[in-house]
Amino acid sequence: MERNRIAAQEVQPFEQEHTAKVRELAPECMVLLQNDGTLPLAPGGKLALYGSGARGTIKGGTGSGDVNVRHFVNVEEGLENAGFQITTKAWLDAYDQAVYEAKKAFFAGLRKQADELGVNPVMLSLGKAAPEPEYEFPLDGEGDTAVYVLGRISGEGSDRQPVEGDIKLTKTEVRDILALQERYEKFVLVLNVGGMVDLEPVKGVPAILLAGQLGTPTGDAVADVLTGRAYPSGKLTMTWAPIEDYASTEGFGHPDDTDYKEGIYVGYRYFDTFEKAVTYPFGYGMGYTTFDVQAGTVTVEGGTVSVTASVTNTGGAKGREVVQVYYSAPAGQIDKPRQELAGYKKTAELAPGQSETVSISFPVADMASYDPARGAWVLEPGVYAVRVGNSSQNTCQSGAVLLEEEVLTEKVRNFGGDPGFADLKPEGGAAAEAPAGAIPVDTSAIPCKEAVYSELPEELAGQDPCTWQEVVNGEKTLEDFVAGLTDEQLACLCIGAYKDSGDLLEVIGNASSQVAGAAGETTNWLQETGLPGLVMADGPAGLRLSVQYTVEDGNAKGGTSLSGDMFLVFTPEELAAMAGPQAADQEPGETYYQYCVAIPVGTGIAQSWNDQLAEQCGSLVGREMEQFGIHIWLAPALNIMRSPLCGRDYEYYSEDPLLSGRMAAGITRGVQARPGRATTIKHYACNNQETNRYFSNSNVSERAMREIYLKGFEICVKEAQPYCLMTSYNLVNGEHTCNRKDLMSDVLRDEWGFAGVVMTDWLVTGGMGPRGSKWPCASAAGDVKGGNDLTMPGIPSDKADILAALNDPGHPYALTRAHLQQCAKRVLEMIQKLA
Ligand code: BGC
Repeated sequence: MERNRIAAQEVQPFEQEHTAKVRELAPECMVLLQNDGTLPLAPGGKLALYGSGARGTIKGGTGSGDVNVRHFVNVEEGLENAGFQITTKAWLDAYDQAVYEAKKAFFAGLRKQADELGVNPVMLSLGKAAPEPEYEFPLDGEGDTAVYVLGRISGEGSDRQPVEGDIKLTKTEVRDILALQERYEKFVLVLNVGGMVDLEPVKGVPAILLAGQLGTPTGDAVADVLTGRAYPSGKLTMTWAPIEDYASTEGFGHPDDTDYKEGIYVGYRYFDTFEKAVTYPFGYGMGYTTFDVQAGTVTVEGGTVSVTASVTNTGGAKGREVVQVYYSAPAGQIDKPRQELAGYKKTAELAPGQSETVSISFPVADMASYDPARGAWVLEPGVYAVRVGNSSQNTCQSGAVLLEEEVLTEKVRNFGGDPGFADLKPEGGAAAEAPAGAIPVDTSAIPCKEAVYSELPEELAGQDPCTWQEVVNGEKTLEDFVAGLTDEQLACLCIGAYKDSGDLLEVIGNASSQVAGAAGETTNWLQETGLPGLVMADGPAGLRLSVQYTVEDGNAKGGTSLSGDMFLVFTPEELAAMAGPQAADQEPGETYYQYCVAIPVGTGIAQSWNDQLAEQCGSLVGREMEQFGIHIWLAPALNIMRSPLCGRDYEYYSEDPLLSGRMAAGITRGVQARPGRATTIKHYACNNQETNRYFSNSNVSERAMREIYLKGFEICVKEAQPYCLMTSYNLVNGEHTCNRKDLMSDVLRDEWGFAGVVMTDWLVTGGMGPRGSKWPCASAAGDVKGGNDLTMPGIPSDKADILAALNDPGHPYALTRAHLQQCAKRVLEMIQKLA
């Protein structure tokens, strides 16, 4: 592919346009948690600004999801751009110094530990955040308004901790926030966090804005909302409660086995069913105005439930409201949660006094539960109450649907294995109110589907080799091409492009020779056939590439890009040796630039509860993919937020599968509307902790998998057909997901109709974590056998394992050429589609 290389260092028009677009969308992603009228603030004048996120603003988390930008706007800069005079420069300077010392000491400790253990310091410090220090600086900034920005970072490789300085506020933070609230006439707490923080000690603060992490224009967007230039209209996508109260907290982060004993009772499904108090419920968020949501009608026609609601802006400012529809299924043989989200819709902008009638529809079959005993999705008989409102805890019943008999909506094969325990169940189940006038459903309008499972296709008989050009010209078929490949060529197609030797670290997040900083490529070992390669780059908060690179022998070379504060584990000399080409060392014209724009993190996008916004974000990324020659984006990530302790929650969307699936579908539509660009939904599945992530086994019941952990993937596949999917690092019930034929072939392809390529997460077959774990690495041969087409990024032992399995019937994942051909063909079809 002829690349459009940018040799100028100047800001490019696309950067300006995309930054402006993200700034325009960002207020929809912010959730106003409290407001007594303090917000919005009058713009300009003196402002006392405090807190870890004020200058040290976090635009997104660390790890592969960290986008390398030219510059991003911190809150201090954003407020200054908005005309405020910041009166607390001394406080901010003192904080900078204190936090720098704390980080230096923390990372020096990690380095010492790595040296003692003889492990690479990058692996040990991946995703680690230095704990917030305690300090005491005078809170004496001038002005009658103070803003305190609380920041928290987390990332790939480490989980969050249920301690002060992470999930909980430090003593210093609590003390300062409470003091500031007393001292200033107006006080606002802004949360620059990627996930939940326990706000119980400061809940009385009258104005709290969850700004989140919004990418390149974060500070400007925060200033826009604080000053009322824009209004917030986001809603929480996860329940906020004290960490001890989540059903998933006990046992979280065990290095070997995590038991998902709460079953389907994740997030609000748990808190509402078991009547546990929360700090802020799922779906909650205020605006600068108030809304009245009146339930309208509930009707059922041809197996579809339709609900209307009328929304009126009853306050004095503009705003948008999110109407949410929940249903309560009757508890019969199968226990049911108190309620589940069935649909949602965001209104257009409403002026004071203006109304909109919103209509939300969903199939009756969507209310089915999974019964593992019968291997079927079942609608049990009884009353299905339908509620409408603007958070999971602020709804009113608007109608009910009556099923007079049981309906099986789909019959499938059992899968997944035994987690070794019975799931949590509420006593007595959820009691749905049975109102008069429940609408009977014509059950004949709900067909029962029966899944059909495919067999391995026959081996294609050997043929003379042909070239890729002959396939492109239509002189040969793809089957001819596959049939002409040697075993070794087939094996190469089933793994990413690899170097025969080298440091494994070189291939983490930087394994492409075509685009510097891209995470991987399809094989470069079939060049004699003229086969092009596909380039893959990370996300989900934008496109992750090296910011500058040179081209040597046709290969792009960028520097190692570390994420977060990880550079502090290295000495200045080590850093200099690792650095990529510096513009100053090069002849003019030899250095090229790839400054991408960071979009809001996944959680931020989902907090908009606006599928179109997700699509617009996808479209921005798709345009940058075109600009830099990326075919496959390694995003979106839609693992369920099982616990706020998961270090990568900020990349994910929600504790609810419907919202997660619809956001991923929106992003996918945005990217894939551009010909030749693909998304990769990840990490399939039950990748809900980072601790010992290559060897962590999630024990989960089949019901919880189907209703919660796989559901979002199913929705996205059926709605948007993402071209690629990435399996996860973790095992499920004792086997690596990428080796599980049931997950990839039976469920993903045969039941849902996924038609694309499945790839592994990076280096799952050559585990990078501490050895001596209970569980082994995944097998590359197992990938091929299970239908995981590509083992990424591809290391020599993967090829060896596949070839060994082909010739050895005693191999635990013994292969035939037909297995290899099946995966290779799917990779080639993708190349045909995208290259
Ligand atoms: C992450 C993936 C990412 C891949 C490639 C892995 O460490 O888990 O999300 O796409 O690296 O960089």
